Amino acid sequence: MRSFKLLLLLAFLESCMGKRHWTYEIIDASGYSDDETKLSLNWRVERVGRHITGITGFVNFNYDVDNTTMIEVTIVRSVSGSERDFKPLPFGVPQKKFAEVKVMYDDLLYPIMQNCSNLPQIEGDLLWPWPRNIYIFDMCNFDNGNLPEILADGFYRAVFTFTGEVNWNTSYTVNLKTQLI
Ligand SMILES: *[C@@H]1O[C@H](CO)[C@@H](O)[C@H](O)[C@H]1NC(C)=O
Ligand SMILES: *[C@@H]1O[C@H](CO)[C@@H](O)[C@H](O)[C@H]1NC(C)=O
Ligand SMILES: *[C@@H]1O[C@H](CO)[C@@H](O)[C@H](O)[C@H]1NC(C)=O
Repeated sequence: MRSFKLLLLLAFLESCMGKRHWTYEIIDASGYSDDETKLSLNWRVERVGRHITGITGFVNFNYDVDNTTMIEVTIVRSVSGSERDFKPLPFGVPQKKFAEVKVMYDDLLYPIMQNCSNLPQIEGDLLWPWPRNIYIFDMCNFDNGNLPEILADGFYRAVFTFTGEVNWNTSYTVNLKTQLI
């Protein structure tokens, strides 16, 4: 069953597709794993020219997702960019089974990542079985995909937290500016 928060996130994202009234710069990508033999990851922000930023790196996914594998997504925003000003936004996914975030994966993550990574397309209603693999990301950014037309200025950070056999997390921070038209 889709959670209410997830529906809210998808409704928010789908409500407003069209020309975006904002530009962004990716300023940070980080990752942490408590067992690098089972999951290791390495990201960096790459810059091409003056204005294009992307995330380049890999995730070596070397364990099997099961019913104990959970995911939580939080989105926080800081107007000033200062760490202590980051406040949660009502969009995110409360802790759920990894296998059950298929809708978010299909509607949100896969469209963003399909042309810059080897992330798999998975049949069926579950994100399972999830293949062990080394997933490579090459200049992934938010130029494509279902994101809102209008967003307030500020620093946005998405934090993905995975628990279970391996506890790991990854976060991305962008500095977003409204574009006057
Ligand atoms: C999760 O548990 C259910 C019920 O016990 C079982 O049918 C299913 O195969 C399990 N799924 C995974 C991914 O282990
Ligand atoms: C990815 O590439 C395919 C083929 O070039 C294209 O049809 C599709 O629109 C692209 N998707 C995104 C999200 O850019
Ligand atoms: C990732 O997990 C580590 C260890 O628990 C923690 O120190 C770090 O703050 C977490 N990172 C994020 C972005 O939540």
